[in-house]
Parts: sequence; structure tokens; C-alpha cells
Amino acid sequence: MTAYNTTNHTDSDGSEMKPIYILNGPNLNLLGLREPKIYGQETISDLEARCAAKAKSLGQEIVFRQTNTEGELIGWVHEAQSKACGIIINGAGYTHTSVALHDALKAVNIPTVEVHLSNVYAREPFRHHSYISPVAHGVICGFGGQSYELAL
Ligand code: DQA
Repeated sequence: MTAYNTTNHTDSDGSEMKPIYILNGPNLNLLGLREPKIYGQETISDLEARCAAKAKSLGQEIVFRQTNTEGELIGWVHEAQSKACGIIINGAGYTHTSVALHDALKAVNIPTVEVHLSNVYAREPFRHHSYISPVAHGVICGFGGQSYELAL
């Protein structure tokens, strides 16, 4: 998906500023159509635009991506180690199943915030366990698209 890193920002020491990777897992491409009572009317493009606007206001670059495959998500986490200053991740269903995603985040060890649109703790018990939380610096859930803004 779009990478909002077209301008060449630099840090105060003149070094190139790295973007925050905002990584989205399976079925989030269906936002807007998918269970709107839980996930709202916002599409993934709306969410991307919301993140881009917030990042701009913070002077921060982002790379925003979505995938339906676990291996691709893990590849992006690996890529983030050298290319990003932090990760915001909505692992979607893989949050609750993926030891491999847990291991990848642990391996790269860069600041990571786990986000969810819905309050997973107010939902089915199988959503109460996250493989991401133990390797994240923080978790934000239940605020819809605002969860992402808070994470930024
Ligand atoms: C979700 C919550 C997950 O339990 C679910 O599998 C998703 C979306 C959220 O953003 O609320 O796909 O991560």
C-alpha cells in the first residue's frame, strides 16, 4: 500500500528520519464492509489517510501496509529493523494465533505498539489472549481508528 514517506525529513542531528511502520493483518482490507457494528464504517484507505494526517501533524513519516498473509507480515517486521524507527501493528486474527509473529517482534526489538480497533477484552474469550502483547511496549484497543492516532 501507499508509503507516506515522500519528503526527506531529517532528525535534529541531520541524520535521516526513519518512518514508523503501520502494519495491518488479515481481513482489515475489508474494513467498512466487515462487521461495521464492531469495526465501524471507515475503510482501510480512510484509516490510512487518518494515520497520514496525524503523522504529518507530528512531523513523522509513516509506511502503512496491509496483508492477508502471515509470512508477508513477518517479512515487514524483519524489514522494519533497519528501515523503521518503530512499529504500530494490528495483527488482526494473527494476534491470537501467531507464535511466529511474536518471535519476529521479539527478534527485531524496536519500539512496538499493538493496536486494535475493537476492545478485544470485551469480546469472545479467544480474543483475550495476544501473542503480540508480551513483546509490545504498549497496547491500545477499543477506540476504532483513533487507536492508531493514539499509538502514533
Ligand atoms: C482486531 C481484533 C481481532 O480480534 C480480529 O481478529 C481482527 C481485528 C481489531 O482491530 O479490533 O481482525 O484486531
